[in-house]
Amino acid sequence: MAKLQTRYICRACGHESPKWMGRCPECEAWDTFIEEVFAKEKPGASQSAAVRSLRSGDSADGSTIPIPITSVEMMDMERISCGIGELDRVLGGGLVAGGVVLVGGDPGIGKSTLLTQAAACLANPSGNIDGPAPPARTVLYFSGEESARQIRLRSARLNAESPDFLISVETEIGAMLHHLANIRPALAIVDSIQTVSDSSLDSAPGSVGQVRACAHHLAKFAKAFGIPIVLIGHVTKDGNIAGPRVLEHVVDTVLYFEGDRHHAYRLLRAVKNRFGSSDELGIFEMSGAGLIGVENPSAALLSERSEGGNGSAVVSIMEGSRALLVEVQALAARSTLASPRRTVTGMDPNRVSMLLAVLEKRLGMRLAEQDVYVNVAGGIRITEPASDLAALAAVASNFREQAVHPQTVVLGEVGLAGEVRAVSQVEKRLREAARQGFTRAIISRHNAAQLPGDIGIEIIVVSNVSEAINAALQPGQTRQ
Ligand code: TYD
Ligand code: MG
Repeated sequence: MAKLQTRYICRACGHESPKWMGRCPECEAWDTFIEEVFAKEKPGASQSAAVRSLRSGDSADGSTIPIPITSVEMMDMERISCGIGELDRVLGGGLVAGGVVLVGGDPGIGKSTLLTQAAACLANPSGNIDGPAPPARTVLYFSGEESARQIRLRSARLNAESPDFLISVETEIGAMLHHLANIRPALAIVDSIQTVSDSSLDSAPGSVGQVRACAHHLAKFAKAFGIPIVLIGHVTKDGNIAGPRVLEHVVDTVLYFEGDRHHAYRLLRAVKNRFGSSDELGIFEMSGAGLIGVENPSAALLSERSEGGNGSAVVSIMEGSRALLVEVQALAARSTLASPRRTVTGMDPNRVSMLLAVLEKRLGMRLAEQDVYVNVAGGIRITEPASDLAALAAVASNFREQAVHPQTVVLGEVGLAGEVRAVSQVEKRLREAARQGFTRAIISRHNAAQLPGDIGIEIIVVSNVSEAINAALQPGQTRQ
């Protein structure tokens, strides 16, 4: 009979300790330790056969002996396309054999829908890909959340039915590994990792220890058999997958599904990727027939813009390798409060406070008596300072009740002295603006010097916020 023991696990980083601690020595978070009861096993005592066989294969290839890096065999990373362009892009070109991907997101955001569509593209390529279809591949979908009937209903709705699309409602890790080893699918999907349990552990399914142990077994299996596995994970109230961030260490790629459930656009963002860039973004629209990749996201994001209205400026931001045009909106209204309201959505509020101080001090705008609201349209979150000047222009535009020229894109980081600084990859940003029909760009002197000859957009060079606002709100000095 296995002996029951207690251990404490940090909810934030997964650090284990035999005793409870107020502060985690690893991530220094306070009050994050939770108790977990588990059965201490004699090695291999009640592990399922499949788990055991994986364990014994650990160092079969002798890879633990140190060898010169030059003798390490180069792995040919063949990519398996999911048949969904935006998903392939975020993955860095497709799935990788043996790669484990974690897809996280709020309930109802579309995780099961996306993976069902990916499964369909692999299992039934002729029904989902235009042109000559690759051969059908077997996909094994473990569903611990929904019944096989519910999955069938969704598949029928998504036109995703195929005899090569296998469903299992198994949630015990040993049995799951057994099925995987027997079937050897081209792709396995686990929906969700929180429902999987290891019967050799005493803690409840969904607990930190269970989720981590099961993900670990699946990752080991993926590596040993060269099968890509996608784990679907729920995001808890505090924004972590499975409570702690423990799963992020176990997997190769972490993708987060973001966006408002009540809004049509869904953003799929890579936050970790051992096989590609970790800042790629995929944009989807939820429709009656599932998720559809948005081909021209800039146009989609600007489609609801009211041209000519004040309090709006467009900036070209970089999301991974591509430029995206987004609209920054601002509203300044006289406040009746002792300390006026500052409400910011989609940008860093501290950055906006700094920009308001620059407007007040350098341009003499009396914003201290105004409530100021700043919003990035379309549910996008901007993290780069390249959007400073656009936010500043939007506020100034609304405050002065003068519209920004509708075909103008505003690019620049703003410094405390009111200077306009350069942004990265300016040419790429401007080419996207020109492609979307923008005719004027306000940029810093340094950025202008980096540009090759004509790139199809009129360049207005500014060195400080005063010049920038004058140029944005009325025709300014142009570079020849
Ligand atoms: P789902 O993929 O089940 O979300 P998750 O697995 O992340 O919890 O479903 C997302 C929502 O999308 C759900 O409310 C129903 C809706 N939906 C559509 O609008 N169109 C569709 O074709 C499908 C399958 C779902
Ligand atoms: Mg689901």
